[in-house]
Amino acid sequence: MIVVMGATGRTGKRVVEGLLRAGEKVRAIGRSEASLAALARAGAEVRVGDSSDAAFLTAAFRGASGAYTLLPYDLRVADYRAQQDRMGEAVVTAVREGGVGHVVALSSVGADQGVGTGPIDSLHAQEARLRKLAGVNVLVLRAGSFFENFFDVLPVIRHQGINADVVEPGRAVPMIGTRDIADAAVTALRARDWKGFVVRELLGPRDLSYDEATRILGERIGQPELPYVKLPPNEMAGALVQGGFSEDLARLYVELAQAINDGRVRSLEGRTPANTTPTRFEDFADELARAYAAM
Ligand SMILES: NC(=O)c1ccc[n+]([C@@H]2O[C@H](COP(=O)([O-])OP(=O)(O)OC[C@H]3O[C@@H](n4cnc5c(N)ncnc54)[C@H](OP(=O)(O)O)[C@@H]3O)[C@@H](O)[C@H]2O)c1
Repeated sequence: MIVVMGATGRTGKRVVEGLLRAGEKVRAIGRSEASLAALARAGAEVRVGDSSDAAFLTAAFRGASGAYTLLPYDLRVADYRAQQDRMGEAVVTAVREGGVGHVVALSSVGADQGVGTGPIDSLHAQEARLRKLAGVNVLVLRAGSFFENFFDVLPVIRHQGINADVVEPGRAVPMIGTRDIADAAVTALRARDWKGFVVRELLGPRDLSYDEATRILGERIGQPELPYVKLPPNEMAGALVQGGFSEDLARLYVELAQAINDGRVRSLEGRTPANTTPTRFEDFADELARAYAAM
């Protein structure tokens, strides 16, 4: 039995589907029975509850040989770090008390830092908690920035005719489609062939600058001249709050962008065939274009 957190989300859903296809028994965790119904029909056992509730999560993890863990959050979260710490503690309690032998934990490039990287600081703290688990084999997947983040910018493109952020236009960073993360997690959870605490990076097919990503997206939505505009941090934070982010998460988002500009959110492994994943932004841009057309 393999238990999957965030089973209705971007990586988790595909992890569940991939494991089921491979013939594994899967327990899928989410907060709503209705959202989990399709996975139940596909053969997953489902558990409905709040993943920051350690007792719920422990019961859901009990008896599983492997687990896929992540720390999801809501854009409106008032105190991001407190929410992430609470869920992170629940995860390590559930792994320990539930007797899970192998854990694949989603993290991020930049999680080596621990301070000044916005939301990624919480993933650094979670890696530290997981590292302390005795007798558990933990594989941390440090992923690059998700292609899916560009869904959030589609309304800005629609209403203001620009893509905007605080990241320097020409700074190339690892960017990845979440499907590639899920596929790597499925492979690892089936093989369960690592020992102890292991960190692996997943970097997408190549590093991509915001300028280049904006050009590719612009071409795909019929706006080849779509500009990327680098905003001052305060202006960006204000725009994020207007777009529905909590003040806290907007502040952390901008902090992360500045850490990217400072070169502190970077691969430590360097590119290798193992950490270079197949899905290109050019391929993914079709999904963005469909969502843009439907707006
Ligand atoms: N965005 C990036 O560029 C990036 C890069 C590297 C790493 N990461 C990390 O990736 C992780 C997110 O992975 P993902 O994109 O696969 O997840 P996701 O799609 O954001 O969320 C997964 C699921 O978690 C549940 N969820 C959401 N908020 C929750 C909450 N407050 N409490 C409990 N459950 C909640 C939701 O399902 P239900 O509503 O069904 O419960 C959601 O479908 C985060 O830890 C993030 O830091 C992100």
